[in-house]
Amino acid sequence: MSFHEIPISDICKYKDPFSLFSKGGLTVVESNGQIDPMTIGWGALGTLWSKRICTVYIHASRYSKVLFDQADRFAVCFLKPEYRNQLDYCGNVSLRDEDKAAKSGMTLVRDCGIPFFEECELVILCKKVGQSDFDPKRITLPQIASWYTKEGPHTIYQGEIIKVLVSD
Ligand SMILES: Cc1cc2nc3c(=O)[nH]c(=O)nc-3n(C[C@H](O)[C@H](O)[C@H](O)COP(=O)(O)O)c2cc1C
Repeated sequence: MSFHEIPISDICKYKDPFSLFSKGGLTVVESNGQIDPMTIGWGALGTLWSKRICTVYIHASRYSKVLFDQADRFAVCFLKPEYRNQLDYCGNVSLRDEDKAAKSGMTLVRDCGIPFFEECELVILCKKVGQSDFDPKRITLPQIASWYTKEGPHTIYQGEIIKVLVSD
């Protein structure tokens, strides 16, 4: 595996945290022998409970949520730009319908027992430490709040960052 570990505090030397998620990342979560890579556009890096935290937002309709609710660890990773098609695939197909990890053609690897892909340029390995649902009644943007009443909420998952890898 051609990665090396960097200090957690060095993530921002490699990537701007604002553009990191908006350009598209992947969560990879495993439970009960299933591995679900899911494209994300939302995420946050920060400090919570005196820990360095990576937060992701998974909608109630995603199969990933089923696995996130069961798992105690997950990866948030960022593919090299040439894997844009795989990123789109993991954002438009559900594990309910296809084995995305296998069909993507990418290579699964592991660190700290957490699966992710060899094709990543940055990997954030997380231990799940919290989760809660958005409360639509507390959202002050009317169009967002009304969307949630129709579609159900995203769940907010906080992961304590345990290791950060960058490709060699
Ligand atoms: C660019 C892009 C960003 C996305 N961001 C998110 C996100 O942050 N949270 C989310 O719940 N779904 C997001 N999605 C939708 C899921 O990736 C998509 O519904 C996926 O097929 C769910 O797979 P699953 O059912 O295997 O979990 C995004 C999709 C795309 C294409």
